[in-house]
Amino acid sequence: MGKRVTTRRLVELKRKGTPIACLTAYDALTAHLFDAAGIDVLLVGDSVGNVVQGHDTTLPVTLEQMIYHTQAVVRGVQRALVVTDMPFMTYQVSPRDAFMNAGRLMKEAGAGAVKLEGGRRVLEAVRLMTENGIPVMGHLGLTPQSIHQFGSYKERGTSEEEAQQIKDDAIALEQAGAFAIVLEKIPSDLASAITASVSIPTIGIGAGADCDGQILVWTDMMGMSTEFRPRFVRRYAELHDVITRGVQTYIDDVRNHTFPNADESYP
Ligand code: KIV
Repeated sequence: MGKRVTTRRLVELKRKGTPIACLTAYDALTAHLFDAAGIDVLLVGDSVGNVVQGHDTTLPVTLEQMIYHTQAVVRGVQRALVVTDMPFMTYQVSPRDAFMNAGRLMKEAGAGAVKLEGGRRVLEAVRLMTENGIPVMGHLGLTPQSIHQFGSYKERGTSEEEAQQIKDDAIALEQAGAFAIVLEKIPSDLASAITASVSIPTIGIGAGADCDGQILVWTDMMGMSTEFRPRFVRRYAELHDVITRGVQTYIDDVRNHTFPNADESYP
């Protein structure tokens, strides 16, 4: 197990041109697996709302829930940097609220950094946090907490005007002290231009190969669901099929009286 990954280390990796590998995690069991495999960053994403809680959006996720999931992830990790998403309405109301809520994620949950969505509209909050020891990861492009404003999960930054806004937001986030920026579902050329114009790492999801790192939702890349198959997800396993087959075989074994056998029982 190597040295702990820090926000400073991520900036060094960008400088050296070493890609940064990131995944989401929501519990200690998977966090331990991904950490032992050598992942650099584990994001306790508010995608927990979709993936674990069964909601259609990330909006219902609460700060208390993020504290709970982060505590579990932190217990499973020895090396990776744990970044926790600030849920909807925990940083938009005022910079002071944002700062206090981020403080709880660091102090009570043990997060190594927080992530929040948006650019210039959240700068004051980002500044207050970074000036007071809370590392912040930005998130631009498709920002799922704004789904009701966007109206769909379509690619962002396809018009010249929106592309320019995203670029300006990225530069403003760096100036406000953010240590990295997630770029979600934007054209590869735009992500490439942003990556070249900031000195902090960009972490892409559906943003092409030129970002400094990549992130995927772990349940997507391991094929836990049959329905969700966006273009940007490469499936590294088909766990949906593996788990379904395992459970069906177990049910058959129980019903056929072939589980447990003598070796699986106490004499
Ligand atoms: O909540 C999440 O999982 C995220 C990633 C998709 C970047 O924000």
